[in-house]
Amino acid sequence: MTVIEPTPSSASAALLSLAKARRTIYQLSPTSPVPDSQLQELVNNAALHVPSSFNTQSTRLVLLLHDEHRKLWDVVIKVFEEGLVADGTVPKEAWEGFTKPKLEGLRGGYGTVLFFEDPAHVAPMAEKFPMYKDLFAPWAQHTNAMHQYYIWLALQSVGLAANLQHYNPLIDEAVAKGWSLPSEWKLVAQMVFGTAAGEAKEKAFKPLEERVRVFGAKE
Ligand SMILES: Cc1cc2nc3c(=O)[nH]c(=O)nc-3n(C[C@H](O)[C@H](O)[C@H](O)COP(=O)(O)O)c2cc1C
Repeated sequence: MTVIEPTPSSASAALLSLAKARRTIYQLSPTSPVPDSQLQELVNNAALHVPSSFNTQSTRLVLLLHDEHRKLWDVVIKVFEEGLVADGTVPKEAWEGFTKPKLEGLRGGYGTVLFFEDPAHVAPMAEKFPMYKDLFAPWAQHTNAMHQYYIWLALQSVGLAANLQHYNPLIDEAVAKGWSLPSEWKLVAQMVFGTAAGEAKEKAFKPLEERVRVFGAKE
């Protein structure tokens, strides 16, 4: 039997403070207060300790640092230039004035974590548990999102800032090829990180009463 030890209130305060401090930061510099080995460990810990439905462990994580990080954003820029910009889907002015500078900004960070789902570990579950067959796909996205949030908080905890991007499925093929990854892995998100070189945007909060209801609480 697993004995659950009470969590000290300082741990709870530390968690809240991390959750509050985690924000979307786009201006990132290519430096890190911690060594790359600690970043590797942080990603390993996400893979080990974030839960998944029926313990499927379908999430795959790829950590790109330094030149490999810059190579990713060069790939994204190239995919845009040779595809959507060349065929006019993204107008030249929008590309030059907005998307390209945004991508170059992301390239200026320290690293990127790529989040994938491996469908090979999801499909057999649907066969084994037909009652839940339609839920395994959304559950795979849930566990992937949990990995994203864990890593965002973990980066914050070591003094790094981040933002979350979705250039999939546009870049899926180029990414699989660029790092010899299994082509079946589905890219879900890209988290860019580095040392904060700018502020988070002002954030509005909807009223809590609209979003949370509590029943049965005692004094
Ligand atoms: C599921 C999800 C998808 C997001 N996708 C993007 C994205 O593609 N590009 C982007 O710049 N920010 C993206 N964001 C960041 C949100 O816009 C941001 O988290 C939100 O505005 C709240 O701001 P905060 O992160 O500073 O608290 C995403 C966030 C979440 C949770």
